[in-house]
Amino acid sequence: MEINTPLTKPEECGSVTKRPQYRYINDIRAGYFGINSGASMPHIHALSLGKSFDTTRVLNRIDFDLPQGSFLALLGPSGCGKTTLLRLIAGLELPDAGELRFDDQLIAAPGHFVPPERRDLGMVFQSYALWPTMTVRGNVAFALQSRRMTGTERRARVDQMLTATGLLPLADRRPQDLSGGQRQRVALARSLALRPGLLLLDEPLANLDAHLRQQMLVQFRQLHAETGATFILVTHDQDEAMTVATHIAVMDKGHIQQMGRLKICIAVPQRRWWRASSVTV
Ligand SMILES: Nc1ncnc2c1ncn2[C@@H]1O[C@H](COP(=O)(O)OP(=O)(O)O)[C@@H](O)[C@H]1O
Ligand SMILES: [Mg+2]
Repeated sequence: MEINTPLTKPEECGSVTKRPQYRYINDIRAGYFGINSGASMPHIHALSLGKSFDTTRVLNRIDFDLPQGSFLALLGPSGCGKTTLLRLIAGLELPDAGELRFDDQLIAAPGHFVPPERRDLGMVFQSYALWPTMTVRGNVAFALQSRRMTGTERRARVDQMLTATGLLPLADRRPQDLSGGQRQRVALARSLALRPGLLLLDEPLANLDAHLRQQMLVQFRQLHAETGATFILVTHDQDEAMTVATHIAVMDKGHIQQMGRLKICIAVPQRRWWRASSVTV
C-alpha cells in the first residue's frame, strides 16, 4: 500500500479551502514529502500566486522564477508570509490564485493540486517536529524506512548525514537530551537523508548561537554543492543570506519586492529591499 495516501484526492483539492489532510503523517513530520528523491531538481515557477486566510490576504501576486540547483534566501519581516509561501510550495497549503510549476508540471493552482509526497522535497520546520521516543540515529533512519535500501546502505547514509551535521557523537541521545540547536540539526539531517531535489528551510538557524550558525552555513553551502538540490532558506539575517545564497527574494506584506541573483540584488538594491531586510524578527 502507498504509505502516503492522501485522504483528499488530488482532483478534489482544488475546490476545498481547508488544508490537505494526510492519513500517513509520519513522512510529513519527518520533513520529507517525496517518493522519487534525487531524481530531479526542479526549476520553480510561481505565477501570481495568492493565498488568503478567511478574509485576510496573506500572499498577493507572488511571481518568481527559480532556476534548478539555486540557493534562494527568502528575507522579510515577521508576518510577511514567508512560512505560508514555503508551506504552499510544500503542498501543506493550497493557493487560491495563480499557479505553481516545477519545470513544466503544474503543481498547484485553484482546482489543481499535486500532493506533497509527489513533490520530491524536504522541509525543515521552525518547530523541530522530532519523534521524542526515538534516538537521533532513529529519527534520521526512520526517514529512510520507505526506501529500497539494504541495511548497510541505510546505515552508511545515516552516518553520512550525522557526520555532515556534526551529530555523530550524539547519535544515541533522545531529543529531550539535546539543545535546541542540536534538535534543529537532527531535523536537517533527517530531511537531507532522502536527498530531495528541493529543500525548504524555515529559519533553521534561529535557535543556534553565532558560532554554530556559521558552521551550519558552511555545511549548507557544502551540502548544496554536493547534492545539486534547490534550496530555499527563510532567514531574516541579510549577512546570512549573502553568505550562502545564489539568489535573494525580499518579501514584505505578502508580496515579493525584489528577487534576483545575489550579485544583482546587491549591485542594484531597490530602496525598499534594504528596509525590509533590515527588520529584526
Ligand atoms: N493558518 C493560518 N490561519 C490564519 N492566519 C494565518 C495562518 N497562517 C499564517 N497566518 C497569518 O498569515 C500571515 C503570514 O504568516 P507567516 O507566513 O507565518 O509569516 P512569516 O513566516 O513571514 O512570519 C500572518 O499574519 C499570520 O498570522
Ligand atoms: Mg515564519
